[in-house]
Amino acid sequence: MNVKDTVSVSSVGPRMTGTTTIITGAGSGMGRASVERFLAEGGNVVAVDIRDEGLAELRSIYGDEHLLTATCDAADQAAVNDVVQQTLDRFGAVDVYFNNAGVPFVAKPIEEVTDEEWDLNMTVNLKAIFIAARAVVPVMKKQGGGKIIVTASMAGLRPRPNLGPYTVAKGGATHFAKALAIELAPANIRVNAVCPVAADTPMLPQFGAGDHITANATPLGRLCSAEDVAAAALYLASDDGNFITGLAIPVDGGRSI
Ligand SMILES: NC(=O)c1ccc[n+]([C@@H]2O[C@H](COP(=O)([O-])OP(=O)(O)OC[C@H]3O[C@@H](n4cnc5c(N)ncnc54)[C@H](O)[C@@H]3O)[C@@H](O)[C@H]2O)c1
Repeated sequence: MNVKDTVSVSSVGPRMTGTTTIITGAGSGMGRASVERFLAEGGNVVAVDIRDEGLAELRSIYGDEHLLTATCDAADQAAVNDVVQQTLDRFGAVDVYFNNAGVPFVAKPIEEVTDEEWDLNMTVNLKAIFIAARAVVPVMKKQGGGKIIVTASMAGLRPRPNLGPYTVAKGGATHFAKALAIELAPANIRVNAVCPVAADTPMLPQFGAGDHITANATPLGRLCSAEDVAAAALYLASDDGNFITGLAIPVDGGRSI
């Protein structure tokens, strides 16, 4: 059987050629791995982070032909609107918006959680998706479609002890992706979430000690990697995921079985 009979042409070459993806939290961990993967797949990438350090490194490695960087708080509406406009000015479209920026939560009993900790989790891990949608959905509607991806968490699907605000924000992020998926399907905008288990990134030690951050937590016997998440995001962002919307994909080595 000829491979062309079963595999679309777009899935046998670089998968993001001619597309533009905005990735938040791009200076570190999963965001950075996604920037590198999407560039390797031929796409243009707009790398967004609240800190410039990681972005500067990306600029020095990849130059500026296919990469634009922006130091920006992903939960600040005016700043995100500005990034979307910069993207349009530079690359002419926003094909994918990957809401990946997040903040951790140091595990503690619910009665010790402060208002500030609760609010920061809701703002960065949940409200930023709303901020991004307001900025990017009108652009995608005008373009005739687009893809929105959210990095949620296994903690949002299966809460672990002492992670209250984080599990609520990530559970909300997953649910919000589904709500957007059903609302935006008629506009040909696909919306999905990736739900990593404990992942070996600079964020991991910031959750505090516990079973939730050990490789023992997964049947495949290792932590998630930043590249595992980049690969799942690539599937959802590319034509390979063209009939996939409203999913929350566990990237969890089987923990959710
Ligand atoms: N590491 C894990 O165990 C794990 C597990 C499940 C889900 N997640 C989620 O994965 C995503 C990526 O995390 P990571 O593990 O790569 O962590 P990371 O700390 O390596 O990277 C997170 C990046 O987000 C940036 N950021 C934080 N607040 C921001 C804001 N308001 N605006 C823009 N950028 C901001 C940080 O500066 C940092 O560069 C997060 O949403 C996180 O909650 C992480």
